[in-house]
Amino acid sequence: MAEKVELIAKCIRTFPDFPTKGIPFKDICPILKDPKALAAVTDLFEEHVRRTYPQVDLLVGLDARGFLFGPLLAQRLGVGFAPIRKKGKLPGPTLSVAYSLEYAKAEAEMQEDAVSAGQKVLIIDDLLATGGTLYAACELIKQQKAEVLGCLVVVELKYLSGSEKLQSTPVFSLIQY
Ligand code: PRP
Repeated sequence: MAEKVELIAKCIRTFPDFPTKGIPFKDICPILKDPKALAAVTDLFEEHVRRTYPQVDLLVGLDARGFLFGPLLAQRLGVGFAPIRKKGKLPGPTLSVAYSLEYAKAEAEMQEDAVSAGQKVLIIDDLLATGGTLYAACELIKQQKAEVLGCLVVVELKYLSGSEKLQSTPVFSLIQY
């Protein structure tokens, strides 16, 4: 496990003042260029989910970088994947929740039939910062009367205390700053 975490950590770069001044942006793109690092992300998430959430029915990924890791993990686990997108991108009946980011305001949207009542759902994204995005995702899933088991992120910015915003929903992160 430690070796895999180290391999992933080496692939995360920090860009100061992006997208706005004062934000040290964590760039996960190099993970995608390194097949071993990408496999390590999927391996570590898979091990955690199999051990902790064997009852999971569905993985929900967040726009945009949750889409990079979510479908790979869903295939490994043998469950489906559904996207939550920024407003205005999904066709058909949708539901939405507004939220605030470290550097912007946004609205998360999900198709009404993406999640069914009673399903046990895990949410995946690349990064947890203030927790606004994951919180909005939890709200959308709960509105559909499904159960959020927990959240999976590659990077957690602990100094922003995002997991506190998520209250009782557990967060599993691979790399912490
Ligand atoms: C980033 C990141 C998370 C979110 C975390 O995405 O990929 O989804 O911010 O921030 P929070 O914990 O403070 O809510 P962003 O909204 O910048 O969108 P993008 O993936 O489309 O670039």
